[in-house]
Amino acid sequence: MDPIISVAIDGPAAAGKSTVAKAVAKILGFTYIDTGAMYRAFTWYVIHKGEDPKDERASCALIPEVKIELCEDGKVMCNEFDVTKEIREPLVSGNVSYIASYKDIRLALVDMQRAMAQSKSVVMDGRDIGTYVLPDAQVKIYQIASVETRAVRRYEENLSKGIPTSLSDVEEDVRKRDYIDSHRDFAPLRPAPDSVFLDTSFLTIEESVDSVLRIIKDKTGVCAK
Ligand code: DC
Repeated sequence: MDPIISVAIDGPAAAGKSTVAKAVAKILGFTYIDTGAMYRAFTWYVIHKGEDPKDERASCALIPEVKIELCEDGKVMCNEFDVTKEIREPLVSGNVSYIASYKDIRLALVDMQRAMAQSKSVVMDGRDIGTYVLPDAQVKIYQIASVETRAVRRYEENLSKGIPTSLSDVEEDVRKRDYIDSHRDFAPLRPAPDSVFLDTSFLTIEESVDSVLRIIKDKTGVCAK
């Protein structure tokens, strides 16, 4: 039987983690787990229930009733709702860092994330995967890119998904989320000491994917079949 491998890819918002992680998982036959989508789905649910995501008590009170499912086809379900598109919209993007800063919500979602990585090989992307969720991951990558590069990428991604935004709003949102994500008390965004840094500012997607595959091969011997 093949060994179970965990690949953790952390880094700031819009650094291209999910694009790279998804492609690497597909090539290696691993399961891709987008933990940001889980925090986004929770945020969507809080708003859907008419609560304010800035209200920690009201948001955490919803933990027992929230069911989040990441489907194989990339669909994100929250309870009976397909929220795949809604979780990328500015209302959710602008509020998700508050939800992600609440310890009780993090603990609930981290339990789910660890359970997902227990029985199969995964590529998991997020902010705290290498430092907190999977501290024993065989491969840890800290993927970065300049704020300007990240804002342009997220802006173009929004355009392609038909989500109306302006470049300056996206850049402001990226800067705001960087600050909140790296300054929260519990499991903040920071590189694990044993992570490999990957700056994708001047790399194409293919070059970034190749770099990650090379790091995985170096660390584990695993490569595309
Ligand atoms: O990767 P993303 O932009 O979809 O993440 C959405 C938000 O969720 C981001 O602002 C930080 C938070 N997040 C987190 O705190 N921990 C994770 N493991 C993943 C995301």
